[in-house]
Amino acid sequence: MAFIRDLGKHIDETVTLDAWLTDKSSKGKLHFLKLRDGTGFAQATVFKNDVTEDVFEAARRLSQEQAVRVTGVVRADDRAPGGVELAVRDLVVGAEGQGEYPITPKEHGIDFLLDRRHLHVRHRRPWAILRVRDAVQRALTDFFHEEGFIRFDAPFFTPNAAEGTTNLFEIDLFGEDKAYLSQSGQLYAEAGALSFGKVYTFGPTFRAEKSKTRRHLLEFWMIEPEVAPSTHDENMALQERMISFVVRRVLERHAEELRVLERDVEKLRPASEGNFPRVTYTDALDLLRRVIASGNLPENVPADTQPVEWGDDFGAPHETIIGAQFDRPVIIERYPAAIKAFYMQPDPQDPRVALCDDMIAPEGYGEIIGGSERIHDYDLLRRRIEEHDLPMEAFEWYLDLRRYGSVPHAGFGLGLERLVAWITGIDHLREAIPFPRMLTRMTP
Ligand code: 4AD
Ligand code: MG
Repeated sequence: MAFIRDLGKHIDETVTLDAWLTDKSSKGKLHFLKLRDGTGFAQATVFKNDVTEDVFEAARRLSQEQAVRVTGVVRADDRAPGGVELAVRDLVVGAEGQGEYPITPKEHGIDFLLDRRHLHVRHRRPWAILRVRDAVQRALTDFFHEEGFIRFDAPFFTPNAAEGTTNLFEIDLFGEDKAYLSQSGQLYAEAGALSFGKVYTFGPTFRAEKSKTRRHLLEFWMIEPEVAPSTHDENMALQERMISFVVRRVLERHAEELRVLERDVEKLRPASEGNFPRVTYTDALDLLRRVIASGNLPENVPADTQPVEWGDDFGAPHETIIGAQFDRPVIIERYPAAIKAFYMQPDPQDPRVALCDDMIAPEGYGEIIGGSERIHDYDLLRRRIEEHDLPMEAFEWYLDLRRYGSVPHAGFGLGLERLVAWITGIDHLREAIPFPRMLTRMTP
């Protein structure tokens, strides 16, 4: 059995493919079959004089998405997509469709397609995006294992909030108690780091985000490395190595998918080289003020966007403006501690700011990473839990990590769909995951 991806290696040979029909047209004694087999897309021609009457008739009657086993001779053909075409000699058809396949080759709106996502994933664009998603996941896990990390899985039911209490999904435990769906595996990753040194968690993460934006899902995947001992500077260096590794890998191995998506790969290339610029939050405010004053705003940024006052968080337009000033991701570090999570280590030079960073992708993709050095001092961490009004009992186990063998340590979380959206150049996170979960979408 051959695969479409490898047809180029079988020029002038007879091969058999298991495929599905994506489209079909006929001209006199010829049927043109558009096929897909999961590894790629190709065209096959059925010429009346080359096949039996039955086979020619079977080709004529094939319906969209019908499965078909095709035997034919591979021909080099510059006009054909992929540079090869299959001259059919025999066909065995699979089950006939029950009625018409709903996603016809014409253009459909994204909601129509997402309502039929279980079928939509068969089509060329999701094929390309989800293959890149797989490649990115694989590259990430390869990267961390090459760097000496082990995977350390965190639970999805948790007793405590890790990233603020406003977007928690609460689970009723038989009316007797409650738990939450995990917003982050970080606290568990910290336990892992103090055991194994370098770990990462990688799994689905849940946030009850009521805002409908193109950058937010209710369920998204996050990879969260954690290293003990480690510092803020080492943490930023690790983020940069990881992102450039992943982008390099996708550029090297997945040019075909990026071509299908018409991604301008020259815009990705700088990120594969490392050397990510770093600016402090405070300097980023100046940068924002200057760009807004110049009136030279990137597209998609509202013309009335205002600068940010020290102490306020950035909104999506601010991230877009800052990201647009650089040809590769930019790291913004040392945000005001008051707008960040309770566990972040204060900067000893200026305790108003935390030893933390966000990585902002270029081209309007916004924050892809959030990370920090963690508070390692027992008393300070206790105080922060109190100040944030978090239930101390739920954090006693987390405090144990500071009671016994505490060291400065650091880590970060990378949102998988944000990274995939940027690399593939798509404009909404909903296409970066097989079955998106949003306020407006729970099915299929
Ligand atoms: O910045 P966040 O909230 O950081 C954490 O959760 C830390 N505990 C990570 C850590 O230090 N271990 O989230 C990290 C990343 C964001 O930068 C973003 O890429 C992604 O997770 N993210 C989302 N992606 C899709 N939909 C959402 N609703 C997201 N919220 C965050
Ligand atoms: Mg964040």
